[in-house]
Amino acid sequence: VILDVPATPPGAIPTVAWRSDSPTGIPGAVEFLDQTALPQEARVLRCTTVEEVRDAIRRLAVRGAPAIGVAGAYGLVAGVQSAADAGPAEVDAALRAHAARLREARPTAVNLGWALDRCQAAARHERSGASTVAAVLAQAREIQAQDEAACAAMGRNALPLLRHGGTYLTHCNSGRLATAGIGTAFGVFVTAMAAGLSPKVFVGEVRPLLQGARLTAFELAERGIAGCLIPDTAAGALLASGRIDAVFVGADRIARNGDTANKIGTYALAEIARANCVPFHVVAPTSTLDAEIPDGSFIPIEERDPREVLAFRGVRSAPEGFPVWNPAFDVTPAHLIATVVTELAVHTPPYDFARRPAGR
Ligand code: MRU
Repeated sequence: VILDVPATPPGAIPTVAWRSDSPTGIPGAVEFLDQTALPQEARVLRCTTVEEVRDAIRRLAVRGAPAIGVAGAYGLVAGVQSAADAGPAEVDAALRAHAARLREARPTAVNLGWALDRCQAAARHERSGASTVAAVLAQAREIQAQDEAACAAMGRNALPLLRHGGTYLTHCNSGRLATAGIGTAFGVFVTAMAAGLSPKVFVGEVRPLLQGARLTAFELAERGIAGCLIPDTAAGALLASGRIDAVFVGADRIARNGDTANKIGTYALAEIARANCVPFHVVAPTSTLDAEIPDGSFIPIEERDPREVLAFRGVRSAPEGFPVWNPAFDVTPAHLIATVVTELAVHTPPYDFARRPAGR
């Protein structure tokens, strides 16, 4: 069976796209579906500078580990394209400065640094400004195309973990809005739907920024998949009820031993899933593996602005200035993870991601 589902549903705005009127692609701009406005409004955000792209990543106008990798790569193109007429030394300096600026936009997802490294490596042997810009654009496009293919492969690889008519729980948003394809964990449900398995998917709201309520519920509707939104606080009762066949989540960084950083709240789900004998699966491309770090204690965890917790879209829900701790991610220890599904394989414990496959 060919399970070929388009990354962007017909008529919808793509998550990330490089747009240009020129056949060379230069000059151009990177366009995002502005995720801060979803689901009320589907609008395009057009960025032509590194600072605009960096700001879009920081504000979560574009978000999700693989998607910010692609966004960062195109951000680099946006930054160096104005230097196309400059000499190699000047372009190289611009490339390094822009990459450093984009890299620090968000710390946890390793895909961002990974994509920027790839673009810089692709430009290393270029002798002119114009060829450097062309090489970075070609690399950014390749990263995007590879992620789209990786999503499709992860969906296919995970299919044996599902049953006909199964009910699943996911967290945050790992769909087309978080990747260049159909998604990581969410892509598994899209693939299952295409395979006729009719999955049903529960998702929590994901406080404080509501990626579950705003984005995953939006994508479930967009794909025609049966869904049910729960308050985050209902996850324990749901997992204890016996209605959930398995939990599928994405990842922002996976250490060598399988410890996995993902959206805050993932760790709690993993513990409750274990306590209720519900299998807990992580679905992520090999670009999310960090072979440099032995375990999850080395993963930098982003802490975000307290104002995100004190108010939502300007409506305050707590006393002004009250102390807040707002970590964006947590680490799920490897021993709670039944499988890690990548585009290459379904891994089972003990995990050892010491070697990243060549060329990735
Ligand atoms: O803070 P966000 O919205 O970027 O967090 C995203 C997630 O946690 C996703 O689950 C993750 O990036 C992996 S799935 C593509």
